[in-house]
Amino acid sequence: MCGIFGIVMATEQQLGGVLLDAGRRLAYRGYDSVGAATIDRTGRIDLRKDVGKIDAVNAQLHLDEMTGERGIVQLRWATFGAPSYDNAQPHFDSDGDLVGAHNGNIVNNVELRAEFIAQGMTVRGTNDGESCVHAVERYVDQGLAMTEAIRGAAHDLNGDYAFVIAAAGERGVMHAIKMGSGLVVGIGDGFTCVSSDLPSILPLTDRIIRIYDGEMVTLYPDRVEIRRVADGTAVARNAEPFTEGMDAAEKGGYPHFMLKEIHEQPKVATDLIHLLSASPHVDPFLDAIESARHVYFVGCGTSYHACLIGAGYFNRIAGIPAVAMLAPQFNETIARTLTPDDAIVFVSQSGETKDVLNAVNASRPTGARILGVLNVIGSALMHASDHYLPLTCGYEISVPATKTFLNQVLLFLYLADRLRRTGDAIDWNHVPGLIAETIAATDGPARAVAALLNPHPEMYYLGYGLTLGVAMEGALKLKEITYAHCEGMLSSEFKHGPLSAVHDGYPVLFVTAPEDATMMVNHVNEVTCRGGRAIAVAAEDALLRKNVSDYIIVPNAGQDVTVLLAVLPLQLISYHMSVTRGIDPDFPRNLSKTLTVD
Ligand code: G6P
Repeated sequence: MCGIFGIVMATEQQLGGVLLDAGRRLAYRGYDSVGAATIDRTGRIDLRKDVGKIDAVNAQLHLDEMTGERGIVQLRWATFGAPSYDNAQPHFDSDGDLVGAHNGNIVNNVELRAEFIAQGMTVRGTNDGESCVHAVERYVDQGLAMTEAIRGAAHDLNGDYAFVIAAAGERGVMHAIKMGSGLVVGIGDGFTCVSSDLPSILPLTDRIIRIYDGEMVTLYPDRVEIRRVADGTAVARNAEPFTEGMDAAEKGGYPHFMLKEIHEQPKVATDLIHLLSASPHVDPFLDAIESARHVYFVGCGTSYHACLIGAGYFNRIAGIPAVAMLAPQFNETIARTLTPDDAIVFVSQSGETKDVLNAVNASRPTGARILGVLNVIGSALMHASDHYLPLTCGYEISVPATKTFLNQVLLFLYLADRLRRTGDAIDWNHVPGLIAETIAATDGPARAVAALLNPHPEMYYLGYGLTLGVAMEGALKLKEITYAHCEGMLSSEFKHGPLSAVHDGYPVLFVTAPEDATMMVNHVNEVTCRGGRAIAVAAEDALLRKNVSDYIIVPNAGQDVTVLLAVLPLQLISYHMSVTRGIDPDFPRNLSKTLTVD
């Protein structure tokens, strides 16, 4: 996730302050690098950019002093292409006549760059935003007008993205296109602007036009023209006043970042599926796993729970045994026995968790393959990995991880599916829709279960087989943001001690994958016959339904995908219970999103 903002003014002025302020308001979308470009009335482009956060880059490059009639600012959240000067956006075309910046992923970036280089264009970095600019340049060089060149580029660029672009010679004009990433237009007095998101626009104007996928917009100082990309036909749409406050805008209209991030899951899953299906980094990652003597999945907290599920997927689907382990336990239990024939997949949203890095450092001298799965590009784990895969979730603000967990599990399932030895391949086109369907269908029931659990100071979440990691993750979410005690564990282990906690009305939630429902009925009855209240989170199962008092239904999408879906109502239960208890779920007490300490 990156942030883009572009503005066209009626007169030349000091635009730097406007760009800096817009950039600061988009900083939540990325902070690996920042860049600004202004174009004055003579068509001279001033481009300043560098690696780092916006205020540090401004202190060095004085973005606030830039002047012009037109301006673009971009905040980068790197996916592929390391954070560097050349990969920082905006980008020039070959001869500096065009300047543009994007947000999103161009999945055929590698192929396109090779084409541009073969055609003699000047390609300076490896960033896919630069490919957007060269894709337009290719048609401008053939003599097409900018709007036609952008339509041609959209035909060549595969992925979910939006970009903004201006030609030095087109005075008073800027263009933007929306093909899967966010884009909103603002209409002001003597200017128009366009951005990935509202927070950068609202301080300037509250007159908004929403742009939809497959549309492009041409900005002038006093008006905009919207067109359909497919056929170039005009779209008539008027500006509407945005009446909600800035806080609502930053949270996309949701009351908390956690809820916003829960609802972003279909989109981040789509982005990850597209990226993995086109990425040249997947094969070397899989080769390292396939050729290894032993495979370990290692992480902490939420990431460890994804490792548990991932290990199950690899065993079941790919026939490759993988051991999931907590990072701080890894050094004592495994690291001393590693050889160059082993592969360790380290999983960390932040890529900076000290417990994980300690395990990486203990593994490195053994020569074992270090593989990384991480959300933050440029993190220590990324640099320490022989190969890494990004989670493409953008910035996760809320302390409790939601979308990054889903994409960790999805990534493991995708990799196992690629190495599949048994069963039918997953239809990945359907998965984002199933995620959206589950969130919509389970929100109400999750609210009801949250109300049921709320009076209880403690409870258990039990899983079996693949759902152990889901139950543990659901329990962690509940602990993190409700301050209730909730233990997640294996349902078959419950009888070996914890069962003594059960008394009349004591809540125990059972998370079940379709093939395990019959086994789970045994474990349910061990609880209900002692007065416990059993709540099921599962696909519809007639036998299970007869044995529990409450049931949250998730779609039956087969054993493996249903497991992925089952975490969604658990996120929602925690969220609703947290809010009911008057706790801010985004920033629970005592916790930190990134723990860089031992
Ligand atoms: C902290 C966070 C957890 C997270 C864990 C591991 O404890 O509060 O939400 O799961 O660190 O973080 P990582 O960035 O390595 O995934």
